Amino acid sequence: MSQFDLDDLPSNLSDNEHFQSVVDRVVSRRGFLKSGLGLGAAAFLAAPLAAQAATHAHQHMGAGYGNNSAPTARKIGFTPVATSSGDAIVVPEGYSAQTFAPWGDALFADSPQWKPDGTNTGADQARQIGDNHDGMHFFPIHGKSSQEGLLVMNHEYCNYEYLFGAEFMDPWTADKVLKAQNAHGASVIHVRKHGKKWEIVLDSKYNRRITGNTPMRISGPAAGHALMKTKADPTGTRVLGTLNNCANGFTPWGTYLTCEENFNGYFGTTSGVDGRDESMKRYGISARGTGYRWEEFDERFDYAKEPNESNRFGWVVEIDPFDPESTPIKHTALGRFKHENCAYAFTADRRVVVYMGDDQANDYIYKFASEGRFVPGKDAANRRLLDHGKLYVAKFGNGAATGDFMGNGEWVLLDKQANPVLAADARFADQAEVLIKTRLAADAVGATKMDRPEWITVHPATNEVYCALTNNSGRSAAATDAANPRAANRFGQIVRWREAGNDAAALVFDWDLFVIAGNPNVYASGDLNAGSSNIDSSNTFNSPDGIGFDADGRLWIQTDGNFSNTGVYAGQGNNKMLCADPATGEIRRFLVGPSGCEITGLTFTPDGRTMFINVQHPGEVGSHPNRPTPPAGVSMDDYVAANPLAFSQWPDAAGGRPRSATVIVTKNDGGVIGT
Ligand code: FEO
Ligand code: CA
Ligand code: CA
Repeated sequence: MSQFDLDDLPSNLSDNEHFQSVVDRVVSRRGFLKSGLGLGAAAFLAAPLAAQAATHAHQHMGAGYGNNSAPTARKIGFTPVATSSGDAIVVPEGYSAQTFAPWGDALFADSPQWKPDGTNTGADQARQIGDNHDGMHFFPIHGKSSQEGLLVMNHEYCNYEYLFGAEFMDPWTADKVLKAQNAHGASVIHVRKHGKKWEIVLDSKYNRRITGNTPMRISGPAAGHALMKTKADPTGTRVLGTLNNCANGFTPWGTYLTCEENFNGYFGTTSGVDGRDESMKRYGISARGTGYRWEEFDERFDYAKEPNESNRFGWVVEIDPFDPESTPIKHTALGRFKHENCAYAFTADRRVVVYMGDDQANDYIYKFASEGRFVPGKDAANRRLLDHGKLYVAKFGNGAATGDFMGNGEWVLLDKQANPVLAADARFADQAEVLIKTRLAADAVGATKMDRPEWITVHPATNEVYCALTNNSGRSAAATDAANPRAANRFGQIVRWREAGNDAAALVFDWDLFVIAGNPNVYASGDLNAGSSNIDSSNTFNSPDGIGFDADGRLWIQTDGNFSNTGVYAGQGNNKMLCADPATGEIRRFLVGPSGCEITGLTFTPDGRTMFINVQHPGEVGSHPNRPTPPAGVSMDDYVAANPLAFSQWPDAAGGRPRSATVIVTKNDGGVIGT
């Protein structure tokens, strides 16, 4: 979630069908509600995935922690942790957690020291770890070393009430804009294990900060298009910076993919006039001023002065972590929307497919399929695979599915020439315009509205694809009836699909729900809000967000939801991480975060014995159980800025301003995480 963007409010005004309607029809047809969850949900769960595992393992490389052999189906072995509303990390018995690389810490030998009063400058921030750690990947340096590597992480946004100290927004200055821009982007961090602790190699040539001002290249079909040109870049091929870097992906050729999510929140105007066109409205560009207030000091964020700058954000960006001089690449072939993460798979003929979600209420799931094939060892050619290919959007149907799955679906091609709907639509002059206005094209072809697609991950053995649908509280209450029980969806669910012929190139698929999150502490069995049969009071959670498989096929689930621990969320505690067995549906709580945070980012060393996760925005007031009522005339942000230690002091032992940070989890006996 971003500070100034309410992604649970839809900007999709199309008449396309909502995924929940599809689910509800299937659920009622299959007697899910009549039989109660205990019986009916069994049909959703426990598909015989393990049986398929060995057959397809050869199709997948590089996911999880790099073990290419078939999973050994090692089960979940830890004792689940209790829920918590405390201001600390909780891990299972026999595990340890090290906090690492918090916002503001040194990334270079000459980095300025972080100032706990928030008074570091914009220039300081460019040499320090960024803010709001999110997606992340570990790249081993020496072969498959699990002792040393490059940890690459996103810095999604910043919380001004913590970023700027007591002075906060007044006066608002150009240097504060620069500091905020430099707190965004990504960090490439050379990390090494020293004894039992990990440390940053401060004098490494690999360490790099990528910010909201780092020069980048635009590639793919929209590069050079008229809608991509600005005064500063008449070629439409060069852009400064990447913003709102939410989650991530990585490629089989060893690069990092960072995904631009709520880019809209940075673009507005000081003109006082709402001059937005249809596309800008659909993407949620601010009508006038923005919460970030960059448009007041940096003209490229004022759309009245630079109308095309926002078209240069909302893309997947590729970073080569091993070449600190390399120019990051914005890949327009993958479409422009509020990218959450991306997950790759191979087609049967070795082309690369990238699955992607657009995280907003009632937006869509996409996949890109490359034109060329991946050839191991030919990385110069492999690096061009994301430049040419086809982009599809998902349509979830309720027709007959194979096995125990719930329904079928299709991938609709978003191509100006090949899709007659788009060919006839004058809003898209060419394929570049289809890609720049991906959401409008997907609206036009009738894609299925989803409950906020967050992370997508591909099972390392079965190739089945899982996507977290975090929640959709904005769904109309007027639509609530017996057959639509999850209007105002507060808890979220995880959908999974199986491509026809188990080939990622397929144009049709079958889908299923792996889990319907809910709260059995509050709702009676048989109510969908109690969750599916694999939810009980020991593992109840809301708002799945980060998900990812480890190499053994355990599914890790991270939450970014309501942490009030009251009302319909009673007994759910702080945001957390759970571990699921996709074969049985079993889910156990593994970790609980400190006060006010979300848990995100997930990567392992190749041996699976070190897990890296991120704690984002500890101290966010949001649904805080001790949420105060500020004095009359004082905004909540002003109140928090004046009381920065009130809602979290994690992770600094001495008690300080809360900071996003990485957490490194190991097992005390040195074993594989999760076993
Ligand atoms: Fe940045 Fe949708 O989470
Ligand atoms: Ca997220
Ligand atoms: Ca989220």
